[in-house]
Amino acid sequence: MNFKEQITEILSVAVKKLGYSCDGLAVSFSNRPELCDFQSNFAMIVAKSIGCKPLDVATKIVENIKNDEFEFSAVMPGFINVKVSDKALSNFAEFVLTDKNSGIEKVKNPRLIFFDYGGANVAKELHVGHLRSPIVGEALKRLHMVMGDKTISDVHLGDFGLQMGLTILQLHQDGFLDQFFAKNANLTELELKNVTLDVLNEEYPKASKRKDEDEEFKKLADEYTLFIQQKKEPYFSIYNKIRKLSVCEIEKNYNLLNATFELYLGESDSFPYIDNAINIFVDKKLARESEGALVVDVAREGEHVPIPKKSEDEPQRYKNPMPPAIIKKYNGGDLYATTDIATILMRNKEFNPDEIVYITDNRQSVHFEQVFRCCKLSGISPEKQKLTHVAFGTMNGRDGKPFKTRAGGVVKLKDVVNMLVESASAKLAENGIVGDNELARRIGVGAMKFGDLSNTVAKDYVFDMEKFLSFDGKTGPYIQYTIARINSLLVKGEFKGGKVEVENDDERNIILALIKLISSYQIAYETYSLNNLCLSTFDLASAFSTFYNNHKILTENDQNKKSSMLALCNLVKSCLEKALWTLGIDSVEKM
Ligand code: ARG
Repeated sequence: MNFKEQITEILSVAVKKLGYSCDGLAVSFSNRPELCDFQSNFAMIVAKSIGCKPLDVATKIVENIKNDEFEFSAVMPGFINVKVSDKALSNFAEFVLTDKNSGIEKVKNPRLIFFDYGGANVAKELHVGHLRSPIVGEALKRLHMVMGDKTISDVHLGDFGLQMGLTILQLHQDGFLDQFFAKNANLTELELKNVTLDVLNEEYPKASKRKDEDEEFKKLADEYTLFIQQKKEPYFSIYNKIRKLSVCEIEKNYNLLNATFELYLGESDSFPYIDNAINIFVDKKLARESEGALVVDVAREGEHVPIPKKSEDEPQRYKNPMPPAIIKKYNGGDLYATTDIATILMRNKEFNPDEIVYITDNRQSVHFEQVFRCCKLSGISPEKQKLTHVAFGTMNGRDGKPFKTRAGGVVKLKDVVNMLVESASAKLAENGIVGDNELARRIGVGAMKFGDLSNTVAKDYVFDMEKFLSFDGKTGPYIQYTIARINSLLVKGEFKGGKVEVENDDERNIILALIKLISSYQIAYETYSLNNLCLSTFDLASAFSTFYNNHKILTENDQNKKSSMLALCNLVKSCLEKALWTLGIDSVEKM
């Protein structure tokens, strides 16, 4: 049941009857809601092509329509306005209430979509830069589920890179690993003594700083990294123990954010596929040697064009930079691109998805373009498979610069969540609710997520906790509050089910907002961005507020009217809950 389609169909019958072509016939939501609910400018298109007055064409089309559900009118300069009858809106309400998918139309050809988001790095503490991927990724995955696709999600941990070599080297040099390097050490039984998460959080940054200052140290770290990749002992055992410790913590963090993954794999899981992948490039003569490394040229014509230097010592710059992808390092080590290519090979062997969607920040755009091109060139990704990189912008502080601590340091993800939960707790306390930590988490995290997803994914945005957490306005808490308010109404009104009979403008506006909300799922699906869905969820909650303020529901004497109003409340509640679920935000019973 889709009003736009129905109206288009009715119009097209009339248009054909008049002998005009239907090319370009479209119906949109009205931008003058006080006049009509839907509109079409098609008469103007026809008028232009046949050289007539637009209003005359619109009038003729309207005269050829007889329909009880929609009222058509022709207005200056040649628009066709459409108003939906109360009856049709009531029927729509009933349809949404009884439809299994709350009226949201599923895709005609469901696909298998593989989502790669999260991407935490083992041994490195999650920080504020890691927030957007699980927020956007989880919402996109749920959106695809709602739209009828099958989905698989993988956290794709960064667990095989230089950071592992650096961390283990630093731990070794600081004396934490002596038992592992002792002669005849029993590696399976040994535990990492004194190596806690706090220790890791200190050792990695220390090592990372050293590598930039100390060439020898960096070389040694490269070597350690290679040893891990080659499964050499005791490096490999130590690596596995650190990984386990770290993954436990990572999972806890993602759970706090309602980000759930079917697969907790990492770069390292692609390892058995790396040789195979490299051989494909070599066999197909797609790889060449360059300064000891193995590279694949992925630039197309007009890309990666050297810009002539003005002087000898000026560094070489490029127009449309698309450097070759390096798939083997000078020392035989594997790189980020290598594991990503091998991972695609693995995913295709195991799951053969129709699309793989990656959600990372936009600084990785060139990397993914290189990986995608490598996989297409080599056939590792079949032609019909879609590879998508959803690149998001940076989360900035109020000063417009990347969000930092007061001292200018990196903010830990845990600290952001704690901050949100504390602020939500304080707000709840104002409402007389104390000591409900889970409720505060739902509200605090929900505020953050809604604030994030309300922006176009690709853009940077400002993290404004004050604004996000407001119980009033375009915020997560406002939606949650609306649901909580309806809950209490339904309990007090002893709601037991019933039909919605739309009969005034406030009720009409609710159903019309609901229609827009339903259509915004499709928009989100097409654009990989949830901002529109957030906005129309807010619009529905706001239409409900107007209705709530203007009508006395619980004290209504007419029992039929009361039951219809409660049914409408219930409908709004279920649609808001569905939207929040899709966004990965929890609903709440009270607040
Ligand atoms: N670990 C990476 C990082 O921190 C993100 C991983 C994204 N996924 C991927 N398949 N490369 O930047």
